[in-house]
Amino acid sequence: MNILILGSGGREHALAWAVLQNPKCDRLVVAPGNAGIHAIADCADLDISDGGAVAEFVEEEAIDFVIVGPEAPLAAGVADRLRDAGVLVFGPSKAAAQLEASKAFTKQICDAAGAPTAAYGHFTDADAARAYVSKMGAPIVVKADGLAAGKGVIIAETVAEAHGAIDDMFGGAFGGAGAEVVIEEFMTGEEASFFVLCDGEHVVPIGTAQDHKRVGDGDTGPNTGGMGAYSPAPVLTDAIAERALSEIVRPTMAEMAKRGMPYQGVLYVGLMIEDGAPRLVEYNVRFGDPECQVLMMRLGAQALDVMHAAAEGRLETAQVNWADDHALCVVMAADGYPADYDKGAVIGGLDRMPETSQEMVFHAGTALKDGAVTASGGRVLNVTARGETLAQAAERAYAMVDAIDFPGGFCRRDIGWRALK
Ligand code: AMP
Ligand code: GLY
Repeated sequence: MNILILGSGGREHALAWAVLQNPKCDRLVVAPGNAGIHAIADCADLDISDGGAVAEFVEEEAIDFVIVGPEAPLAAGVADRLRDAGVLVFGPSKAAAQLEASKAFTKQICDAAGAPTAAYGHFTDADAARAYVSKMGAPIVVKADGLAAGKGVIIAETVAEAHGAIDDMFGGAFGGAGAEVVIEEFMTGEEASFFVLCDGEHVVPIGTAQDHKRVGDGDTGPNTGGMGAYSPAPVLTDAIAERALSEIVRPTMAEMAKRGMPYQGVLYVGLMIEDGAPRLVEYNVRFGDPECQVLMMRLGAQALDVMHAAAEGRLETAQVNWADDHALCVVMAADGYPADYDKGAVIGGLDRMPETSQEMVFHAGTALKDGAVTASGGRVLNVTARGETLAQAAERAYAMVDAIDFPGGFCRRDIGWRALK
């Protein structure tokens, strides 16, 4: 099979790494890729949100299967454009991608499916939104409806703060994403992520993970895209996963099919767990980043088989064989991230890193400059290791971190603390 992966981050490096281990992969192209991906696969310079350009490339290069990494091309309808051209794709249609691209859509689906989630109101004008907050009180969560690169969620501790967030959103702080606003009850509990593959009808769980959103040790400082992750998530026990499937995921899939927008691809189910009961925080229509890195490390070659089965509607008979182990990923970021950060630092020590099924440095924001790997993004490297215990995985990952020379880089030293304590 000739395979094309769309994307350029640590998630796509991990997907590429897993796909390449499967003998069914004859040739792998990643567009646009990064320095780490370049070392293991062909990279193509494509505008991945332009469905026509991707379809043309697929035809020219005789690609048999396309795996879409990030949400933006999905929300732009790239999977639809490819399917219309008869190409096999892993990733939902534009209509189904609303599960990430519109928070109001997701809340309406949850209502119709009876899936437990936070109580909410959906508003298209500031006065009604402010009045709702005044009635409900704080803490309360104010969300821009659309895609806002992870920044459109404000957890307001006071009514005044919530009113400020509402004014900002309707004032255009998040562009079109904030033209509609969802206001939610603040849920307490422990968060964990549940990953399932869907083929429009059937659902196969492929693992659990937790990430660390705050930039600083002890979960302090501003929110980021994720400073590290580990799998499995101990809080997401088999019993809770079963409840999440039967109360949240399967009813959602049935509702999507009923509306003529069956969901095919990976569904990232963000859960809040309290007193043994899961409630939905959010759906994403892609793998999490860096959650994908720990999932791929544990799944290896079979990742391709199950993604292929999802795309072909064969999940009813698919299964995942789990090693009874743990994986942990430490994100190395550029100083300043998540605000303005430095670019261009030359990273040393990578050629001494192990590249095994136990230890891998996945690249996120890197580029090649005169043959050297340089930092080109906020999150730069995803140092990932497996172990029989989470402690062993952490020890291995941090030993690699300490052997990497990244001037102007930093990482959290406490990834996994909740599960390790
Ligand atoms: P979202 O983009 O919807 O996942 O929100 C980003 C983060 O905000 C989540 O991962 C949670 O940590 C937090 N969050 C979102 N909605 C709620 C809620 N209703 N109650 C508590 N925390 C929330
Ligand atoms: N790590 C969180 C996300 O990918 O959205």
